[in-house]
Amino acid sequence: MLSPFSKQSFAVDLGNNNTLLTDNRQILLAQPSYIVFNPGDRSVRAVGDEAYEIFEKNHDQLRPVRPLRWGVIADYESTTLMLDRLVRQVYRNRLFSRFDRIVSGVPYCATDVERMALRDVMEQFHSSQVNLVSEPIAAAIGMGIDIREASGRLIMDIGGGITEIVIISLSGVAVFQSLKVAGDSFTQTVIDHVRHEHRVVLGWKTAEQVKMKIGGAMITTDGPDQLVVKGKHLSDGLPVPVKLTHDEIVHALDTPVRAIEETLLQTLDSAPPELSADIYNNGIHLTGGSALVRGMAQRLSLTTGLTVHLDATPLLSVSKGLSKVLTNPRGYQSVLN
Ligand SMILES: Nc1ncnc2c1ncn2[C@@H]1O[C@H](COP(=O)(O)OP(=O)(O)OP(=O)(O)O)[C@@H](O)[C@H]1O
Ligand SMILES: [Mg+2]
Repeated sequence: MLSPFSKQSFAVDLGNNNTLLTDNRQILLAQPSYIVFNPGDRSVRAVGDEAYEIFEKNHDQLRPVRPLRWGVIADYESTTLMLDRLVRQVYRNRLFSRFDRIVSGVPYCATDVERMALRDVMEQFHSSQVNLVSEPIAAAIGMGIDIREASGRLIMDIGGGITEIVIISLSGVAVFQSLKVAGDSFTQTVIDHVRHEHRVVLGWKTAEQVKMKIGGAMITTDGPDQLVVKGKHLSDGLPVPVKLTHDEIVHALDTPVRAIEETLLQTLDSAPPELSADIYNNGIHLTGGSALVRGMAQRLSLTTGLTVHLDATPLLSVSKGLSKVLTNPRGYQSVLN
């Protein structure tokens, strides 16, 4: 049993869409990366689940903010406040003098300035140490891959803001590609399509539901083939139902899916021959929330001719990896920055 005064370490995956906190044993919190401010000042009205709940239902006075963009900090102050509130939710009853170690995920593509901003955000917790771990590496560890082995592994993380593709060998990244196309691009594509083809405006949350239920990277039979949702008609502004089909949403999503697919092909193309041979044997390890888009794994497998291993818990892989790093920081020294 932990004393309320014992020093604690935690890990954070500050994602474009979801923020997760873990300790060395378990996931402590997983909530949307949202914050809502009260009118007039910068006082916080809500964060996480509560903020997402009121997002797009707020009146003019409340100001909702998504502090992360493309997987990195876009609004430093909002990120700091959001994380402070989320950490307090977890450690409500504990009285630490300070935290011990904080391990944070960081996109592999983050610049030095973006990494510095992330470290600054963590400084508010006065921990003895802050370490950054590249998210695709954390995801690989979380998926149970031995990153130290000499055999090349291709990790593909399709998140909310960005897609990152890396080939890892001997604890390091040998080949890397990243693009700002992921789950948010899919949702925006759904909104644009419905507006253009049906003259109906959908809210963000409704479009997310459309994407998850009838969206897809190819036509599949493992889900509904149509969905009726409510939106607002462009001409008269009145609320209307609109019937959308799996076929049309798959067709609309083809553009962003193709961008991801092409980046994967470029990554494979730029791999040195020995690593290519490994990937031929090991296949592709697919993770990130948008790996759950219907038919995504099948399509990437068809395009590349490779086996695609779809992670069983793609929303959690980075956090699971960070948690393992927290358990044994010495063992993972080479991936700590
Ligand atoms: N069942 C599903 N089908 C399709 N998309 C899904 C599903 N579940 C979650 N998503 C999408 O996954 C994305 C969030 O994934 P994830 O939590 O991995 O992103 P993130 O880590 O917050 O973002 P990033 O890695 O870009 O910083 C969202 O766009 C969400 O809509
Ligand atoms: Mg992520």
